[in-house]
Amino acid sequence: MEEILKIEHLKKYFVKKSLFSSKTSTVKATDDVSFTVKKGEVFVLAGESGSGKSTIAKLILKSIEADSGKIIFEGQEIKNDSKSLEKIRMNCQMIHQDPYDSINPRMKIADIVSEPLEIHKIGNPESRKKRVIEVLQEVKLEPADEIMKKYPHMLSGGQRQRVVLARALSIKPKIILADEPVSMLDVSIRAEMLELMHELQKKYEISFIYITHDLATARYFGQRIGILYLGKIVEMGLIDDVLLKPRHPYTQALIDAISEPDPENLNRTKKIRIKDSEGTAEEGCKFQPRCPYSIEKCKVEPELKSINESQSFACYVDLD
Ligand SMILES: Nc1ncnc2c1ncn2[C@@H]1O[C@H](COP(=O)(O)OP(=O)(O)OP(=O)(O)O)[C@@H](O)[C@H]1O
Ligand SMILES: [Mg+2]
Repeated sequence: MEEILKIEHLKKYFVKKSLFSSKTSTVKATDDVSFTVKKGEVFVLAGESGSGKSTIAKLILKSIEADSGKIIFEGQEIKNDSKSLEKIRMNCQMIHQDPYDSINPRMKIADIVSEPLEIHKIGNPESRKKRVIEVLQEVKLEPADEIMKKYPHMLSGGQRQRVVLARALSIKPKIILADEPVSMLDVSIRAEMLELMHELQKKYEISFIYITHDLATARYFGQRIGILYLGKIVEMGLIDDVLLKPRHPYTQALIDAISEPDPENLNRTKKIRIKDSEGTAEEGCKFQPRCPYSIEKCKVEPELKSINESQSFACYVDLD
């Protein structure tokens, strides 16, 4: 599979000012992150809240500026010139966790779905209307000619998220960045939405960056995964290798935290109990303060090292 997107050494630090003093603190939201996404694959970014998942999505879409690092789309670096920005925004669409984040409640569904076509000046009013109907049918919002006349509040949460998917698909993007797209939906309709994304992803060979903290849906939808901890990828590889044979203690802890154990994983005897967070490490591995296996050497940051073609992890202790 050919590479469509390459992220190289991406960094974004936020400086936070204290409300009560002149003190500032730095949050390393994205700290030297590199990964690739192949054509037609689903790459999962997983990690707990605050690990930097959404920041990476914003950096890719250039809605925020990186401190350093490169974003390479189809072999060309995306810089800040208008041509580069148009290229990434034409080819890369975003689905947010909350449909209300991305759709205007005062706009009719037809206008919401055709907005990207208008922004990118694709087609004419007639061809845009045709595309809206086509794409509403693709996401199984039917009858499309009735749905398109409605406003978002007239639809259910699940239907609204389908509208967001239809909007993203309208300009036939090559990559969809889906940031927790099902986490706000009722459990009963989560599976339907994931199935729909899976079906359309296969049909049109769209690459996805699927952002989640839910490893069960990650495994259903994804092919490769990067596990983020405080802005760093600590483990990466084929989804089954990483989730069935995790090598980094943090990945293991995330798996062990799933309340309903995966039957295939039941035999994993080495359950890991992480410590409550006691702040972040000044230097070295960021997981150190919570890691039960931490050793002196962890004061020097471990590099991501490959154990085979499909899996790498950043830890001195190998729990295999
Ligand atoms: N604009 C900002 N200003 C200051 N700090 C920020 C900003 N955006 C994000 N951060 C901080 O960067 C870190 C990463 O945030 P981010 O939203 O990327 O995490 P996340 O993994 O998407 O979390 P969640 O699962 O809760 O959505 C957090 O500590 C967050 O507080
Ligand atoms: Mg987020």
